[in-house]
Order: sequence, then C-alpha cells, then structure tokens
Amino acid sequence: MTGSEPGFGVYIHWPFCAAKCPYCDFNSHVRHQPVDQERFASAFETELATMRERTGPRDVTSIFLGGGTPSLMKPETVARVLDAVAKNWTVPDGIEITLEANPSSVEAERFRGYRAAGVNRVSLGVQALNDADLRFLGRLHNVSEALHAIGLAREIFPRLSFDLIYARPGQTPEAWSAELEQAIDHAADHLSLYQLTIEEGTRFHTLYAAHKFELPDAEASAELYAITQEVTAARGLPAYEISNHARPGAESRHNLTYWRYGEYVGVGPGAHGRFIEDGRRIVTFTEKMPENWLDLVETKGHGVIGGETLTRSEEADEFLLMGLRLAEGIDLDRFERLSGRALSSPRMSILQGEGLIAPVGNSRLRATASGMIVLDAVVADLAR
Ligand SMILES: C[S@@+](CC[C@H](N)C(=O)[O-])C[C@H]1O[C@@H](n2cnc3c(N)ncnc32)[C@H](O)[C@@H]1O
Ligand code: SF4
Repeated sequence: MTGSEPGFGVYIHWPFCAAKCPYCDFNSHVRHQPVDQERFASAFETELATMRERTGPRDVTSIFLGGGTPSLMKPETVARVLDAVAKNWTVPDGIEITLEANPSSVEAERFRGYRAAGVNRVSLGVQALNDADLRFLGRLHNVSEALHAIGLAREIFPRLSFDLIYARPGQTPEAWSAELEQAIDHAADHLSLYQLTIEEGTRFHTLYAAHKFELPDAEASAELYAITQEVTAARGLPAYEISNHARPGAESRHNLTYWRYGEYVGVGPGAHGRFIEDGRRIVTFTEKMPENWLDLVETKGHGVIGGETLTRSEEADEFLLMGLRLAEGIDLDRFERLSGRALSSPRMSILQGEGLIAPVGNSRLRATASGMIVLDAVVADLAR
C-alpha cells in the first residue's frame, strides 16, 4: 500500500455547491450571488499561516480540496491555496493533490487550470450511471455528462477516482452488479462506493420519514455490499477500506492518513483537523457558515471555534474506529502505545469466534467482511 506511515495531510474545504443534494449533510451552501473568490483565497492564506504556527515545520504527504464543490473554484483560487500550503510547510514533489469535482461543473479549460496549479488527482461525483437514479439523487448531471467528465479527467490528470452511491430504492442485485461492471469499464484505478444513508436534517430524511420512498432492508443491503466486494475484487480493484477500492498502490494517500490515524490540518469553513501540538493530539474545527468564517479569519487570523486535547483513551478509540475500516487493519502495538493497555484477549476471542475480526500475522487485527457491516458495534465492544 502507498507508503506505510500515517502522514501529515492538508485539507481545504470549499463550502459552496450549485444545488443542495437531498441526501447530503456535508457543509455545503448554495449562494445566488457570485462568491468573492479573492476574499476566500486571502482568508485561506491567512488560516493556513495560523495553522503553520501551531504545527511547526512539517513535510506534507497529501493535499485534498474537498467540499462542497471545489470544481466551482477558479483555477487561480486553487493555485493561491496550493502556493500558500507550499509557503508554510515542505511540499515534496509529486505528492498527491486531489480536487473533488462534480460532472456538472466540469469545463476542460478549468480542469487544465487545476492541473497547471498542481492538482494531480481528481475525485468525480458520478453517483449513478442511470439517468432516473441521478434525478432521484437530485444531481444536476446526466450519464452522458458524467462519462464526458470521466474521459476529460482521464486525459488531463494522472490519477482519477469517482464516487457512486448504491443501495438506492428498488435497486436489485442484478442492476447494481451490471452498473458496477460498467463503472469499472470507465474507471481508472480508484472507486469510492457508498451505500445511500439517510442523514438527519436532509430532505431525504423528511421524505423517508413520510414513507415517500423505501430503501433496501438490512439483508438486501448486505447482499449489495457483498456484490460490491466480489465484483471489484474480481476486476482488480479490491476494497482497501469499507467504501474505497483501488488497484494495489493506487489507494488515496490522503484518506489513508485519516484511517491510519495520521495528522492533518483542516482549513476553510467547517473543516476539522487533528494534529500533535505540545506532544498531545488535538482536534480543531472551524465555523461552518462561510460568511462568518470569513469574518473570523479576517479579524482573528483563523476561524477555529472549537477543539480539544484528546485523552489517551479517546485517541485509542478513534484509532480503532478509523483503523478497522481498513483491509490492512490496525497495529496492536500502536493501540497499546496510544491507550496504555492491550485489547482484551477474551473479547477478541469472542469477536473472532463470531467471525467479525481476524488476526493479520502476530501484530495486526482486521475486521472481516461481516465485521465491516457492523463495525460500530465491533469497535464499541473492543473499546470497552
Ligand atoms: C460531500 S460529497 C463532495 C463531492 C462533490 N460535491 C460531489 O457531490 O460529488 C462526497 C461524497 O459523499 C457521498 N455522500 C454524501 N452524502 C451521502 C449519503 N447520504 N449517502 C451516501 N453517500 C453520500 C457522495 O458519493 C459524494 O460524492
Ligand atoms: S453531494 Fe456534493 S454536490 Fe451535492 S450537496 Fe453535497 S457536497 Fe454539494
């Protein structure tokens, strides 16, 4: 897998979208007036400099521009942000620099501009490969636009991933399997495949509560998940994380940093960070409302409105929760170093007997495919 060190990533959040998708509870906002990108670029520069004061000098292992819809950023805005990262920390040549893009906001010229600014990987929000489901998901693109965006991205960027959402209403195993095969025909070397979840506060939450649509039940969802594992593995893109699939070596370096419990700074409205300060791991989170975040950064130098120093046991719990999402699992010694105690052998034996976890050699532990489906419960049990 791509290096084995947890790493130090930089996450930049662009909080605007052309429309709000009915399933999405990410920090994304629709604005009918043009966004002042100059002002945002300056604020990103300011907040990055403040973060640098806190982390000290570091070697960056990846940069991720997420959203929202970062493909609504002007290439000049992206260039200013990437330059600012390089001014504050060491950015070795060739590190992974990802930008999330929506197929509806793709223009060849902008893509070339992102590439010139330094972006070398794009993550495209394709979501479905049939028009009826794209409409249901509230997306602004159709299948032919998605395929065009994939083609263009493959031409311009060295690396490409795209996202699909499955376990949609009425989706049969046969239909999903065929759609997934088609997706892999178009894929480069990475896919993110998420089961549709109903998040509180979204339009889907209201509609679902009012029985306007139904989702596959637990058994059907488990079957769709199993198909996802089988089809992707057979086609050379096995899961390296619950929802992420890659040809070996093409895993997302940035996301591995989260799951391997590395360090990252989070900049922009609603961004989270986790890094070591004065020898302890601290959490930061910033003001979510874009305009309020701007005001804070312009007056105080940052939009951080909260955070805490994690206790050893909180750190250990987070390490378990993140690491067991990975096919490579967790390093048991690292758990012991973080928490000051070993995982309980009797509890591990029970979970292993139930087929939910499995050892990897003598020093690692992973969740099995059945364990992944009930991972929160497995982690809660292990962490007790
Ligand atoms: C927050 S979006 C940002 C990227 C970009 N704006 C887009 O929509 O493609 C990241 C990904 O999370 C996934 N996602 C968001 N909400 C979800 C939900 N409720 N259920 C399943 N997947 C979801 C989608 O696949 C989406 O591509
Ligand atoms: S899924 Fe993507 S495009 Fe849709 S609202 Fe969320 S962030 Fe915006």
